[in-house]
Amino acid sequence: PLVSMKEMLNKAKAEKYAVGQFNVNNLEFTQAILQAAEEEKSPVILGVSEGAARYMGGFKTVVGLAKNLMEEYNVTVPVAIHLDHGSSFEKCVEAIHAGFTSVMIDGSHYPLEENIALTQKVVDVAHALGVSVEAELGRIGGQEDDLVVDDAEAAYAIPEECKELVEATGVDCFAPALGSVHGPYKGEPNLGFDHMKKIDSLVGIPLVLHGGTGIPTKDIQKAIEFGHAKINVNTENQIASANAVRETLDAKPELYDPRKYLGPARDAIKATVIGKMREFGSSNKA
Ligand code: G3H
Ligand code: ZN
Repeated sequence: PLVSMKEMLNKAKAEKYAVGQFNVNNLEFTQAILQAAEEEKSPVILGVSEGAARYMGGFKTVVGLAKNLMEEYNVTVPVAIHLDHGSSFEKCVEAIHAGFTSVMIDGSHYPLEENIALTQKVVDVAHALGVSVEAELGRIGGQEDDLVVDDAEAAYAIPEECKELVEATGVDCFAPALGSVHGPYKGEPNLGFDHMKKIDSLVGIPLVLHGGTGIPTKDIQKAIEFGHAKINVNTENQIASANAVRETLDAKPELYDPRKYLGPARDAIKATVIGKMREFGSSNKA
């Protein structure tokens, strides 16, 4: 069934595993992720960025597609449709109106008080409709008035601010910037586990790890140990999909039927998602 993230993430945090948010980019991604979830008996979150929604034909198109595929595939596992990095109150409301069961409001580039006010506004509307909310907090290095953020702390959310935001807004889950990056890593990721531990103990709610692509399994396990119940993956599936298309067309340059090269892409995405579900421990948890 289509559900919010609230219960699936609280259960995951309590039982020490993480639910994957896999971003959808097109029909084949949506198919592959739902097929993987049902096969693995895993809860799953379909991540939809504003850009991906635009590409696919709008929020309503994405919701309709997901709902119809769930019916077609007899999906029994919990599925959330989640707005990824929502950029404004208006976009969050538009997504909720279209049938999204969860939204992220990304106010991380605003000063703390503005981020809190914006997130609070989204929570008021979302919670009235049973929709879950994710917020983000990070920190840009440099100096602002008497506040100095040194290099070591630059990419990391500040624990006390995290506590303030979570308590003031009542969000369902929370993404503190802790050194992970979107896209492939240049070198080894350097996650701030000391901050992570502190933030986990201060906020209590499920944490979200963005930039799940390329993080070694040992770090994934540590992140789950320190309160992460949701891990976002997009790039890794995109790479799997692109490689499959490239290999298929390289091997048979005369192909032109999209089903013949996008089918293998779908299979590659599905295999990648299944691998992640097993790594995150969410298989057989639906
Ligand atoms: O919000 C989306 C994710 O954080 C995806 O990150 O593309 O590095 O896997 P990724
Ligand atoms: Zn992200």
